[in-house]
Amino acid sequence: MSNRSGSFEASIGDDKERLLYYNDSISSSSTIPTYPPPTPRRASRSIFTLLSLSLTTNIFLAFLSIYLLRHPIETDKSQILYTPARDAVEYHAITFTSGYLDDKSPYQSNGTVPDDAQDAAWRDLYHELIYSRIPRHQAAQLTNRTVPIPGDEGYYIAGLDVFHQLHCLDNIRKSQWPQRYSPSEHMGGQGMSLLSAKHLDHCIDQIRQSLMCAADVSTGWLEWNERFQKNLAVMSTTHSCRRFEKVREWARERKLRVWDASVRVEDPLERDGGM
Ligand SMILES: *[C@@H]1O[C@H](CO)[C@@H](O)[C@H](O)[C@H]1NC(C)=O
Ligand SMILES: *[C@@H]1O[C@H](CO)[C@@H](O)[C@H](O)[C@H]1NC(C)=O
Repeated sequence: MSNRSGSFEASIGDDKERLLYYNDSISSSSTIPTYPPPTPRRASRSIFTLLSLSLTTNIFLAFLSIYLLRHPIETDKSQILYTPARDAVEYHAITFTSGYLDDKSPYQSNGTVPDDAQDAAWRDLYHELIYSRIPRHQAAQLTNRTVPIPGDEGYYIAGLDVFHQLHCLDNIRKSQWPQRYSPSEHMGGQGMSLLSAKHLDHCIDQIRQSLMCAADVSTGWLEWNERFQKNLAVMSTTHSCRRFEKVREWARERKLRVWDASVRVEDPLERDGGM
């Protein structure tokens, strides 16, 4: 008893006096139960129980490790709000093109007026993908209520923002080349030219918010440049990216084609206040 209280005191330090007092009161008490030493038979039985318990636990943990190695638990905390496209989110590493000299992308003008090939490349990124068709049980989980599709019972309109952002960026691109893109040919839904200063200003601010929202922390580096005799930032950096192809595939499978925006449909979700 005194030995045990000794180690207690050593490990507690500042509380030593209080513990001593506490221990004193224990030792003066005569109600501490005493246990008889286990008989050999009881001991071997409990050792057997312990061993089989440990064996079972180890086998269970081994299977759990194998399972977790094959099916890693999703730990993506980047999406705190519901999205019907959650399953389309996958990551991979992508090395950016620098956009200079011979390291240009098919989306770039190459210094001359853009041609049909570049327009087609841009179109392919977002055309007809801005609005998607989602079922009612997904619409019910959206952060903000959306509208049912007229004449398409049980389906609702929603849009993944990346396609709207790409549409915005494409209009900013087009506005650089009035020789090719005339504002009057690019009219939006509200009778406003998509290439007007007002629309482009909206677009720039949407993209600003999107960049800040994503806050890409992929890291760039510098390199000695012989030609300029300077350390220069390398623009072809490698990034942690969502697989755009997967997200685009999600939207392509749910394309909302022709629909009449001027038809107001009664929403069962509003009536039932849920499912
Ligand atoms: C841009 O121009 C260069 C040289 O004229 C050419 O090699 C390259 O293929 C062009 N790139 C694109 C995307 O048109
Ligand atoms: C959409 O939902 C969010 C989160 O509840 C809310 O803060 C926001 O005001 C809503 N937007 C509109 C336009 O109602």
